[in-house]
Amino acid sequence: MSFIEKISDKRPWLIRSGGRKMLEHESKDVESARKKWDEHAERYDKWYKTFKGAVEHHVDWELLKGYLPQNRDAKILDAAGGTGRITLPLAKMGYSVTLCDISPGMLNVARQKMLREGVLDKVEILECDVCRLRFADESFDFVLCWDGKIEAAKELIRVTKKGGKISMFLVNKHGATIRKFREDPDSALALLRSKSSYVYDEEEKYMAVSVEEAREFFEKEGIKIIEIYAVCGMLDFLSIPEKIQKSRSWNEIFFRQVTEMVLRLSKEPSVKGLSKHLVLYGERI
Ligand SMILES: C[S@@+](CC[C@H](N)C(=O)[O-])C[C@H]1O[C@@H](n2cnc3c(N)ncnc32)[C@H](O)[C@@H]1O
Repeated sequence: MSFIEKISDKRPWLIRSGGRKMLEHESKDVESARKKWDEHAERYDKWYKTFKGAVEHHVDWELLKGYLPQNRDAKILDAAGGTGRITLPLAKMGYSVTLCDISPGMLNVARQKMLREGVLDKVEILECDVCRLRFADESFDFVLCWDGKIEAAKELIRVTKKGGKISMFLVNKHGATIRKFREDPDSALALLRSKSSYVYDEEEKYMAVSVEEAREFFEKEGIKIIEIYAVCGMLDFLSIPEKIQKSRSWNEIFFRQVTEMVLRLSKEPSVKGLSKHLVLYGERI
């Protein structure tokens, strides 16, 4: 019996990942991601209660809001959705959300939260790998995957309805290079010289892409790009003292000033290379 089957037996709300068979290296990557996120599960939401986390969440949500379907009957997939940071507000708005993730620990936290907030009936929770989704073609009106796995793009596009929208977090090649240079100049330069390359971020492997590479890749896959924003890490350039960034209480006026600054920078083409992630919004044609 596989690990996932064992987990599913204990948790009837979880459904087993389907699709094609995994290659050995893929299954190792998935296993190590699952282990890492299971260990992080209880701590994950706490970071979003700090000043820095709250700013990042506010910016992510402000950008997303404008792209949500008008129709509240729309079906939304939050793939690699973790503890439901985005699923929860979507469910509260009345959308039906499918939340899938590889980590039972993260999903368990999500389930408790949905239950506490009275929206569990709006949310379907599945344990599943984003690269092997169990859904039929064109199942969703809106597909989010805020994890940085460009390898999952084809599968996520497959389950998006034609005319539906997709939003993906991607690792920003130039932002990754800048952050890597101090500890390892050779690797930073190798990454900058290459067309596209993998980087390690907190023990997980991601393919890093520039804004233009992301645009080119998704257009080839039949996505009309609506916008690509720079998110995560823009705060690093504002020299806000560490103590304030980690604080759990703050001055609201300063919070508004910082979020406006970060939001404006996330849209500014001349500085988009600086962030840790890019968030892409597109429409399946
Ligand atoms: C940084 S967290 C993001 C969670 C959520 N999307 C958010 O924005 O708060 C990354 C999530 O991706 C999940 N993940 C990593 N690899 C995955 C895979 N192959 N399939 C599904 N989920 C995966 C992790 O378990 C974790 O919950």
